Amino acid sequence: MRTEDLIHFCAPGRLIIGNGTRHQLPQLLARLGYRSGVLVTDAFFVEKTPWVHEYTEAAGRLGIATLVYPGGLPDPTTQLCDEATAILRQQLGGEQPDHVIALGGGSNIDLAKALSLTLPQGQPIGAFTGDIGGCRPLPLIALPTTSGTGSEATPGAILLDPANATKIAVMDNALRPQIALIDPEFTYTCPPKVTADAGIDAFTHAIESFLTLDCARFDRGGSPDPGYSGRSALTMLFAKASMRLCFAWMERAYQHGDDTEARVGMAYASIYAALSYGTAGLNAGHGIAYAVAGQTHKSHGSTNAVMLPYVLDALCGTRQSELAEVAGLMGLATSCPDESARRVPVAVRAMIGRLDIPTDLRAFGVEERMLDALVTDALAVTRLAKAFPVADAALAYRQIVLNAWEGRLSGQA
Ligand SMILES: NC(=O)c1ccc[n+]([C@@H]2O[C@H](COP(=O)([O-])OP(=O)(O)OC[C@H]3O[C@@H](n4cnc5c(N)ncnc54)[C@H](O)[C@@H]3O)[C@@H](O)[C@H]2O)c1
Repeated sequence: MRTEDLIHFCAPGRLIIGNGTRHQLPQLLARLGYRSGVLVTDAFFVEKTPWVHEYTEAAGRLGIATLVYPGGLPDPTTQLCDEATAILRQQLGGEQPDHVIALGGGSNIDLAKALSLTLPQGQPIGAFTGDIGGCRPLPLIALPTTSGTGSEATPGAILLDPANATKIAVMDNALRPQIALIDPEFTYTCPPKVTADAGIDAFTHAIESFLTLDCARFDRGGSPDPGYSGRSALTMLFAKASMRLCFAWMERAYQHGDDTEARVGMAYASIYAALSYGTAGLNAGHGIAYAVAGQTHKSHGSTNAVMLPYVLDALCGTRQSELAEVAGLMGLATSCPDESARRVPVAVRAMIGRLDIPTDLRAFGVEERMLDALVTDALAVTRLAKAFPVADAALAYRQIVLNAWEGRLSGQA
């Protein structure tokens, strides 16, 4: 029993999951009294799927007007958000929408989160980084189309700042969607690379939050309403359930995108992971991955993937029993907890390789001269470094980056 837990669990207001549930949305929004929305998506969904048209027609019949913004792009920038704010406010002609809908992967959901803050007054999104200052965003309804980011359940929007090529976070519990509607059928059209990147992102969320700092030790910065607050028995339940589903279905969904059971399995894996990390938070894996993304401009999932085995290896001491438990979920446990724990990073790296993602920094295109900057940039994300459960995060980050460059794991044969 974790008697020290101090839980501050946060989740979306409503969580709706199941094949075909998207068809319930117009009636639900009408029932909740919404009348005028903005739907944020990208060209793929407007041009290649019937979903946007289906939704706007059905909502219109119930008296809900919807303005569609089709300009979402992967890894949205602050500049894209500011341009979208100006375009939408002009199209709205002074009318105030009463909700924002996000349809897409984490990129469109994050753009919609940012727009839920900027649309009412028209400020640049840069005005909200760090602290949203008590501002009330428009209610957000998130419809994820990838099984990965879990942004539909988190308090943050991640945007790229083109001025210095780093990712910035706009964070507040008020940014958690009012409704997260997970219809696994949305994911059936995901191409293999998007499926792999998103799947490993979900798995990283699950395992990183399973191993992160305990809630009783987490620095909440004095906030009475922290967005992230460390792991607890509750978050660890979701993390474990998510890992089990990832082991069962992730590779299958990548290899056989038409396997509907695998698609549904990964939809659950993704939201369970989000219900864990969306409260527990993350640490070195994402911290170093952000720095790798800043230098290589590779996808979010692949930057997580290349770092993950080496981050897990660094935790074989302080998180031995938890890693041995993960070894059990993978069918790798032996009678020796240390050996079991050290088998996990090796097996996770092999799994990442089977998703055709490079498994060391050299193969990922990182040059040796970039390593120092990677460590410095990663440590600069202090909220993630502080949550890494080791005695000396700076020392650990340096060793992780070196190991990742050399492809060295303590448990490898
Ligand atoms: N806010 C958070 O809590 C959080 C957490 C993790 C990641 N993120 C962010 O999420 C982004 C990554 O999101 P992602 O991995 O979901 O990918 P994505 O949203 O960037 O989408 C990648 C590509 O896949 C396409 N796509 C998405 N769904 C599809 C579908 N069903 N069928 C066909 N094509 C589809 C998109 O159109 C896009 O071209 C990054 O910017 C990352 O920073 C945010």
